[in-house]
Amino acid sequence: MSTNQFDKKSEAWSALFSEPMSELVKRYTASVFFDKRLWQADITGSLAHAEMLAAQGIIGAADLASIQQGMAQITTEIEAGNFEWKLDLEDVHLNIEARLTQLVGDAGKRLHTGRSRNDQVATDVRLWLRSEIDLIVPLLGELQGALVDVAEKNVEVILPGFTHLQVAQPVSFAHHLLAYVEMFSRDAERMVDVRRRTNRLPLGSAALAGTTYPLDRERVARSLGMVNERGEPQVCQNSLDGVSDRDFAIEFTAAASLCMVHISRFSEELILWMSQNFGFVKIADRFTTGSSIMPQKKNPDVPELARGKTGRVVGHLMGLITLMKGQPLAYNKDNQEDKEPLFDTVDTLKDTLRIFVEMVGGQPNPATGAKEGGITVNAVAMEEAAKKGYATATDLADYLVKKGLPFRDAHETVAHAVKAAVTHNCDLSELPLAVLQGFNASIEKDVYECLSLRGSLNARNTLGGTAPAQVRAQIARHRARLA
Ligand code: ARG
Repeated sequence: MSTNQFDKKSEAWSALFSEPMSELVKRYTASVFFDKRLWQADITGSLAHAEMLAAQGIIGAADLASIQQGMAQITTEIEAGNFEWKLDLEDVHLNIEARLTQLVGDAGKRLHTGRSRNDQVATDVRLWLRSEIDLIVPLLGELQGALVDVAEKNVEVILPGFTHLQVAQPVSFAHHLLAYVEMFSRDAERMVDVRRRTNRLPLGSAALAGTTYPLDRERVARSLGMVNERGEPQVCQNSLDGVSDRDFAIEFTAAASLCMVHISRFSEELILWMSQNFGFVKIADRFTTGSSIMPQKKNPDVPELARGKTGRVVGHLMGLITLMKGQPLAYNKDNQEDKEPLFDTVDTLKDTLRIFVEMVGGQPNPATGAKEGGITVNAVAMEEAAKKGYATATDLADYLVKKGLPFRDAHETVAHAVKAAVTHNCDLSELPLAVLQGFNASIEKDVYECLSLRGSLNARNTLGGTAPAQVRAQIARHRARLA
């Protein structure tokens, strides 16, 4: 074993330092207690680097073998929970390198040839985030699938569509749910897009200027799977940018924030729909809690928390983007602050998506495999509510336009009809034909078809409209896309 192996951080660089760090500064500057979760990416990156160093003749085959064997042991130790993480060694990188050197001696000390922690950490974060994106994209697919399942059962269920939270026009409940499917499908697209820019290799940028060793960066990129759709290696092309770019983390957090905003809007609707004043849906009891004082309560804690956690993720986006704004090139220690917001964004988003998949779609019954316990829909309450706000007034105006009235005149005529219905405390469809004809003589018996909620729904048969035929076509498109 080598004599000058280090197990304190100060020993990792040089004898230049004349005094040790205070405990407070040590704690302030250390990141190991949160960045240790990068350990797997760190080892993967180191092995790819070492293998390339050997292939290029920069280190010997025996050194490579020792490094591989040492890393295998470290992997076992970390997985078994036996690895001793030391605050003194500041971060995940120095902890692993120090242990490697302790295990395999000089070979361990050769690993850092042509590398700096600056390009090392940038590589690790990218590798880690890539694998998390690869978990998030399928979760977004599952959530869309769960929404499509509920939609399919509710194509004919009529919901009052709102603008300004005032009853506007009737819509199919399925149509309403499919609006969220569109949002989550864009969220998945954004994640896939962010992945392309995340999946590029900083390693080989060294501290900031590149390195004097004949590295084969493309080989490392290939062995880490940092390749594009055509299999071409993706390498950061400017060393200064390679070590300091955190755009990918900001972009990811922006995409995650938008996704959480979509979840938050959906949560807000669930919360409203579950209140006694709406009574449109129920979610399974396991996603709600009671009150310690009011025995009748069942509170929608999960949607409320999701709405609340959205603020936290948007906060991380603000934190990360602000972290970058004053940084001169190239690497600065500020960047160590990228990790906690990024980690928490990933954890919050994944947990939220998982819980929503189950809350919307239910859980498979172990005996039958069929999903149970998802959202329960009260179709009667929805339809009753849709009847309340003169939701088919636009349909009456459209009817008059088809009889030859200019739209603005039809709009005015219908306003009078609505006023009459309000006075009689009835729906438009309950006004006698003679009364309707008093507003416009061209009105005939067939008007009642367009004044019904279902007639209104069927009439909106343009692409993207709420007519059941359109909604079914959209469900088929989503099914094919998600298959
Ligand atoms: N723990 C550091 C980080 O997360 C690693 C890079 C440190 N580089 C340096 N020059 N101090 O950014």
